[in-house]
Amino acid sequence: MENKPRVLTQRYELGRLLGQGTFAKVYYGRSLVGNHSVAIKVIDKEKVFKVGLMDQIKREISVMRIARHPNIVQLYEVMATKSKIYFVMEYAKGGELFDKVAKGKLKEDVARKYFIQLINAVDFCHSRGVYHRDIKPENLLLDENENLKVSDFGLSALADSKHQDGLLHTTCGTPAYVAPEVINRRGYDGAKADTWSCGVVLFVLLAGYLPFHDSNLMEMYRKIGRADFRCPSWFPTEVRRLLSKILDPNPCTRISIDKIKESSWFRKGLISNKQVKAEAESKVAGASDMSTSAGSSECSGVTGDGNLVQQVKPPSLNAFDIISLSAGFDLSGLFEVDPRKRETRFACRQTAPVIISKLVDMGERLRLKVSKKEGGLLRLEGLKEGRKGVVGVDAEIFEVSRSFHLVELKKFSGDTFEYQRMLREGMRPALDDIVWVWQGEEQQQQQQLQPLVEQTQPEQEPQQ
Ligand code: ADE
Repeated sequence: MENKPRVLTQRYELGRLLGQGTFAKVYYGRSLVGNHSVAIKVIDKEKVFKVGLMDQIKREISVMRIARHPNIVQLYEVMATKSKIYFVMEYAKGGELFDKVAKGKLKEDVARKYFIQLINAVDFCHSRGVYHRDIKPENLLLDENENLKVSDFGLSALADSKHQDGLLHTTCGTPAYVAPEVINRRGYDGAKADTWSCGVVLFVLLAGYLPFHDSNLMEMYRKIGRADFRCPSWFPTEVRRLLSKILDPNPCTRISIDKIKESSWFRKGLISNKQVKAEAESKVAGASDMSTSAGSSECSGVTGDGNLVQQVKPPSLNAFDIISLSAGFDLSGLFEVDPRKRETRFACRQTAPVIISKLVDMGERLRLKVSKKEGGLLRLEGLKEGRKGVVGVDAEIFEVSRSFHLVELKKFSGDTFEYQRMLREGMRPALDDIVWVWQGEEQQQQQQLQPLVEQTQPEQEPQQ
């Protein structure tokens, strides 16, 4: 580290390196305004562009910026310079959970507390359409009150183990936590894959070692594929039963998060935490809740440090949440802002097939050539030459949840003025019945909603 502290946008002082991956480095940071600790993840933009996952990252980050949960490392803000992206995050002072396990297996009650917190965090994100896909020790942190904080939700596209070719590479990161269907690249359900990883975490917490391990990597894959593991003698029967349902190699029959929550072993933790909470409350009548946040699946709980976590209402993400963060959604800081505005977005509460058929109808009505492109893009092209050739627009649909999407319309050819007119006079009226809200117009419809996170445009890039 240099002698002079590095300062980011005159607001954060960058400190020691906390961790490092293929795409990113995480530094300790200090807010110069509030003098509080943060963790700053610095991502190399070029590497992210190369893997072609920027859209997925943008979409998931837009969700994570408003999704708050006591067991998820909060993303405070996103900033960018020409070459770097900065995620300013909550600092988890207690370090990695697995440093604890490295000292020896955990007691059943302690393991259960962390498992409950993990499941609650995962469930919360799944309900918002975000899957982690890379639950592993490095992503499980602790705060100063020994509460679990899952990091990197929404950044799964940057998982270290995934490379440009989409293959899992084992040189960086272990496949030990990865579900068999992910290893076999059979196309997988993110929720079921996360559930498997939670099962591996639970095993490790209670056993102090991995369920699937072999010095020969192929043998390890084979063990994962067959769910070939053995519980140590001290595992209670209820845990064995639960683990056998979670570590089911068939994702279709693998237990769901809801069912895990209903299991007797899981529920035991809720009961005892409630008791602890009740006792604490009776001791400190009127004082803020100091119990763990285990057992609260909603984000309106109390964090370990006693601060009330702000609940984003309504509990499920709505278009206004996202669109009011429109600056957040396009993360314009990540990219060079185009003053000619070649793109626009709208939120829509329809399923993808309904949106696609509407876009096709619109194309036909406006006499546009409609074609499907790779990655689910719909391409709409005028038939007549304009001032700068034919106006061409790509429509891209981003799923937030099954019946809630963001649609981006982006001009890729032709004159911007002609495109703006086509948008204003043709496309917008034609899409009227499926659009819930257009980007930038949400204020008129929902006046109270304030952007939850400030969008910052850094003026200068710090020295790396
Ligand atoms: N290492 C990686 N992310 C971190 C965070 N948010 N807090 C503390 N250490 C970390």
